[in-house]
Amino acid sequence: MSGGHAPIQVTVTGAAGQIGYSLLFRIASGQMFGPDQPIVLRLLEVEPAMKSLEGVAMELDDCAFPLLAGMELTSKAEEGFEGANWVLLVGAAPRKQGMERSDLLTVNGSIFGPQGMAIQKTAASDVRILVVGNPCNTNCYIARMNAPELPAERWFAMTRLDENRARTQIALKAKVPVAAVTNIGVWGNHSTTQYPDAANARIAGLPVFEVISDHGWLKGKLVETIQKRGASVIEARGASSAASAANAVIGSVVSIREPTPWGDWHSLAVVSHGEYGVPEGLQFGFPVRSDGEHWEVVPDLHHDDDAWKRIRVTTQELLQEQEMVKGLVPS
Ligand code: NAD
Ligand code: LMR
Repeated sequence: MSGGHAPIQVTVTGAAGQIGYSLLFRIASGQMFGPDQPIVLRLLEVEPAMKSLEGVAMELDDCAFPLLAGMELTSKAEEGFEGANWVLLVGAAPRKQGMERSDLLTVNGSIFGPQGMAIQKTAASDVRILVVGNPCNTNCYIARMNAPELPAERWFAMTRLDENRARTQIALKAKVPVAAVTNIGVWGNHSTTQYPDAANARIAGLPVFEVISDHGWLKGKLVETIQKRGASVIEARGASSAASAANAVIGSVVSIREPTPWGDWHSLAVVSHGEYGVPEGLQFGFPVRSDGEHWEVVPDLHHDDDAWKRIRVTTQELLQEQEMVKGLVPS
């Protein structure tokens, strides 16, 4: 063990799955919590996947990661979340070709209520939770509503993969290094209605619309490419994104834990307090900045009529999903 810090407890659900297989090794190597922070991995799976999970744990052992202070493997939710400082809710079925993510609500929705309750019961008092399993905004909403004693601000759903996708497409179009592209906000649902906002994005500090003259592409093809990118990966790979998803999980947690570079922001789906007219309580993708302790939705961004229309569409979809899961949240 290094650094003299006490280990933190990090729970990953669906740990024997595709995303888990990429994510766990990156967490254990220090990419999520830094090179001085020892970690205990608490790995939660369903009973039939426990043997496979044991194999993953053997491989983690065989990496001899100095920061990996221990592992707990379990199929019992309360045990999995015991003392957890961070919970990464990955465990859920992925969609297959031809499905929308919301088609997964019937199979996956019921996972998240009991997990929300178990987190509230056994996790550490400072627990923060990132929901990855799809449809992630509404699954996060379900879990959060089942854990009313935890502050709503501790719950996040993952729109970072969409942000990263938009960053690369814009960099390719402008022929600039990807690091030059900043300030990408993905608004609304992690679904085909999401609105990746290029109008407020920047390239080397300049508005993207000043650097890329093809505004039709920025307002049309780019948005559509990001909205459909998950499906394109599924079509090409025969399985849903995994390594890029794990990479986005790392980025999400780092951007919550660490102060956001001045003037920039990152995409996270957080509880709405009514910002930009989004109904309170929706788990909504916003541009977010953090001071390392607290986060806020970036205020005062300008949208044109087309952007407002898109934001209304994705809001409506989230409200519909919320209606669909009424039976899974306490009234
Ligand atoms: P996978 O099928 O490879 O792995 C999922 C794992 O979850 C399986 O091992 C399964 O046994 C486990 N699981 C199922 N129910 C569980 C439960 N109640 N408790 C604990 N574990 C449980 O799937 P994957 O490719 O790793 O994807 C996982 C989820 O992440 C899917 O819903 C997928 O759509 C979603 N996803 C989201 C994003 C995003 O950007 N938000 C990106 C990629 C994938
Ligand atoms: C993605 O965006 O790649 C994931 O949400 C998986 C999917 O179903 O598209």
